[in-house]
Amino acid sequence: MNAATNQLRHIVYVSRRAAGLTDYQVVDGIVLPAMTRNRRLDLSGCIWFDHGYFFQVIEGPAAELAIVFESIERDKRHHALQVLSAQNIERRDFERFSMRLIADETPMAIRQIIAQYEEDSTAPSPPPARPEMVVRRLISEISAAFV
Ligand SMILES: Cc1cc2nc3c(=O)[nH]c(=O)nc-3n(C[C@H](O)[C@H](O)[C@H](O)COP(=O)(O)O)c2cc1C
Repeated sequence: MNAATNQLRHIVYVSRRAAGLTDYQVVDGIVLPAMTRNRRLDLSGCIWFDHGYFFQVIEGPAAELAIVFESIERDKRHHALQVLSAQNIERRDFERFSMRLIADETPMAIRQIIAQYEEDSTAPSPPPARPEMVVRRLISEISAAFV
């Protein structure tokens, strides 16, 4: 393995949950297998969902992350995937979790991201005021809740 593949990277995205997908199918068919596969590939992160959306942070070695993200992008259990952040990182935000399920409450920052996503998909302008600051704040809010 060379230095480039060891580089830590994260991808943060929001997507629309496929119609008809039950909570059971999400937890048993997506989240639990993801925990196993991520652990094997040294990936970590968190995932949140409600009736209409998924939100996920996935992080780890760039090469493994790219492979898994390709699977995720192809997955028919969601669509309209919108990447909020894809960049090299110095350290992980979810070190302890192969895929932390955020189930009980929706962090305020995720609410804001979803509201913004809805605006983006209906109105072609203005440009979203999202990028790094929002994602950074979001990640600190979520990860702080689970230390
Ligand atoms: C919202 C969502 C999040 C997912 N997150 C992960 C994940 O973190 N890790 C993972 O291995 N698979 C994840 N999956 C499942 C992958 O899309 C894929 O089904 C699985 O990795 C098997 O890969 P394959 O279909 O290429 O064999 C996710 C799927 C969805 C719909």
